[in-house]
Amino acid sequence: MRAAGDAPKVVSVDALRPDPEAIEQARLVLAGGGLVAFPTETVYGLGARGLHSADVERIFVAKGRPTGHPLILHVDGEAMASDLCAFWNERASLLARKFWPGPLTLVVPRAACVPDAVTGGLDSVGLRAPKHPVALALIRALGEPLAAPSANAHMHVSPTTAAHVVRSLGTNVALVLDAGACAHGIESTVVDLVGPEPRVLRAGATSLEALRSVLPDLVYEPLAESDATAVRRSPGLALRHYAPRTRVVLAARGPNLAEALRDLPTEGRFGAIVWSAEAHAGLQHAGPTLSFLTVLPSDAVAYAHDLFAALHNADAAGLDALIIESVPDAPAWWAVRDRLRRAAHAED
Ligand code: TXA
Ligand code: MG
Repeated sequence: MRAAGDAPKVVSVDALRPDPEAIEQARLVLAGGGLVAFPTETVYGLGARGLHSADVERIFVAKGRPTGHPLILHVDGEAMASDLCAFWNERASLLARKFWPGPLTLVVPRAACVPDAVTGGLDSVGLRAPKHPVALALIRALGEPLAAPSANAHMHVSPTTAAHVVRSLGTNVALVLDAGACAHGIESTVVDLVGPEPRVLRAGATSLEALRSVLPDLVYEPLAESDATAVRRSPGLALRHYAPRTRVVLAARGPNLAEALRDLPTEGRFGAIVWSAEAHAGLQHAGPTLSFLTVLPSDAVAYAHDLFAALHNADAAGLDALIIESVPDAPAWWAVRDRLRRAAHAED
């Protein structure tokens, strides 16, 4: 039994050729009902045996996440997935064949074997075959799906490194498999295949353009500020879901970013995350001295890769407010725009 206050055990594992001994250590923890944080190509997940209710319930305790919030079951491919749903329809098959293994979660009607603890009592279940060799090796070693949300405390930014996991969950996870930084750095795209039309529930690492090349009728409506219906459909859509602890102010793009600085109080520790050269230049000439500044790449995929790490660093810097430069209103930026809007949404 681990005593409260213990640090988790962190085991390094090669990202491309996972060491079988490390995978076996993790499998043993899971087989004993424990929790293992593991890398995926999107963010780190906090895993438990997906068909064991008591194990799955430990995830909610560890994260401080309210029950009734559905978890994704991670599978090793279509065969395992089809055993977990009531019917595996043509759309599911098309998407799985094109995008699995990869950063796409499919919400499908659940099979009876899926515990309520996983689905939050919904009639559907979210399934994803991750591409990361460590995640796949762990699922295969376990021989059953791995229930896993992102490995962060509830309502906080998803972890993209093992160090983020340890900082966020510390004493609440037994073992962390450390394979370095995640390739995408932003969560999977979640697509609902249960409703009358296929619909994106969460923008993510698989682009809308790529998905529409397979399902031209796929609906994506960026969440309205108070879309209670959407939140009921996928509780992860709650506006504050991806927020850093630091207060975030979403500012104009480019040279006008500096205006946001003028609105800050005269006293305090402030930081900024920018991406455009104009905004960066504007910061040098305006407002209070910043205690924290990160310049992220101007390419949407590279920006997404680095965003959560920047938010974790901003939290660690103990700021009173963090100014974030808005990003372009273009399809390539869809997942980033979604995360920034949530990060900036003030807590009620
Ligand atoms: O990339 C990812 O998806 C990561 C890695 C670890 O796989 N996982 C992740 O899990 O982000 P989590 O629990 O933080 O977010 C899962 C999202 C939530 O928005 C949840 O509401 C939605 O998927 N979801 C899961 N099952 C669902 C279901 N049956 N119906 C509707 N939404 C569902
Ligand atoms: Mg999450």
